[in-house]
Amino acid sequence: MAQPADALVVGGGVIGLAAGYRLAERGAAVVLVDSGRRGASWAAAGMLAPVSEAAFGEDELTRLNLAAVPAFRALAAELADRTGLPVGLRTEGTLAVAFNADDRVALDRLTDFRTGLGLRTERLTGQAARALEPYLAAGVRGGVLAADDLSVDNRRYLATLRAAAEAAGVRFVAAEVSGLLQDRAGAVTGVRTATGEELRAGTVVLCGGASTAALLPVPVQPVKGQILRLAVPAQLRSAGEVLTHTVRGLVRGSEIYLVPRADGEVVVGATSEQQGHDTGVTAGGVYELLRNAYELLPISSEFAFVEACAGSRPGTPDNGPILGRVGDGLVVATGHYRNGILLSALTADAVAALVAGEPAAAVWRPFGPDRFAGDRTGSSAQPAVPA
Ligand code: FAD
Ligand code: GLY
Repeated sequence: MAQPADALVVGGGVIGLAAGYRLAERGAAVVLVDSGRRGASWAAAGMLAPVSEAAFGEDELTRLNLAAVPAFRALAAELADRTGLPVGLRTEGTLAVAFNADDRVALDRLTDFRTGLGLRTERLTGQAARALEPYLAAGVRGGVLAADDLSVDNRRYLATLRAAAEAAGVRFVAAEVSGLLQDRAGAVTGVRTATGEELRAGTVVLCGGASTAALLPVPVQPVKGQILRLAVPAQLRSAGEVLTHTVRGLVRGSEIYLVPRADGEVVVGATSEQQGHDTGVTAGGVYELLRNAYELLPISSEFAFVEACAGSRPGTPDNGPILGRVGDGLVVATGHYRNGILLSALTADAVAALVAGEPAAAVWRPFGPDRFAGDRTGSSAQPAVPA
């Protein structure tokens, strides 16, 4: 029988990969088990946007998202150092724009809330917004620049994390985990795969994204997001980049974002739907995204259509992640909903601390697995490990 690993990570999305890398880099013997089904991390847009994702009533989550930015920058620099691979970090910030007068009122309310939290925002007239992004529609009613938001090419980031994890000694296993192994005292000692194999470890770290609730009763629900990848044709790019900032628009009340990459790709997202674990692409979803993109950036109709896909965001009742120890031998890190790429580095540091028997940083305190006590969607004060 193989020697038990120090840590066994379930899930090879951005959370599992970052956690696996960090654990191995700190000297742990790590096994990472992944089903091979691509999750939300592959679909994502890659915005690292604590300012333009800050929503009413989510002050603690905004604090967590803000803390995630320096952690992400540090990890990106570390990965570049170790692998020589780029992650495509962009630092131009987010330009939020409003399409009509009602959208302008909604954007102003959100901006008041965000500045009230101390976030750095700069209000712009329509003309000033178009000076930053000359291809914006002539009718755009003004905007708000969030200069501190970043973005990353999520797929390059995943590839770089995987390369760094392999180099740090993480052993990858392709398998579906079907259950947890426990000893007589209830401590988790490993996992069982769908083919009946048993893998033992000192600590199991559950990072299964929207599927985590199949292994542990946590209130994580899939929130489907359809998203497009377009490409700016070479002849348009010859005069310079068509888009430099992430542009987020309110178009007649619906939200849309366009995220540029240095290689000419533009990611257009995203729908938000309660459809269970379905990740099918629909004509209606693609139509809505293309229509809103065209309204904000008419030149987007000349872009090449590269891909439409969908992913399941791991949503929670309060939109915050779930991170903590759940009994002996088990740590959970899931529920990152709209901000898992952003939160990945900070989560990895927290997981490494928890596996080492230390507390996670104080900013994580509001996001423990025990906070759903009494909630209809959370079954108990501490999710019980299924026997
Ligand atoms: P996933 O990426 O879903 O990975 C889970 C992995 O676990 C999968 O590989 C799966 O195969 C594996 N797995 C699950 N169960 C098992 C099992 N039983 N056995 C073995 N393997 C298992 N976040 C941002 O920060 N910025 C953005 O701009 C952004 N945009 C988004 C746009 C869209 C359309 C979507 C859908 C999400 C977006 N997000 C964004 C959110 C972000 O993608 C998620 O929060 C994040 O990817 C969650 O990562 P994860 O590793 O927990 O889950
Ligand atoms: N954070 C962007 C999204 O989830 O669509």
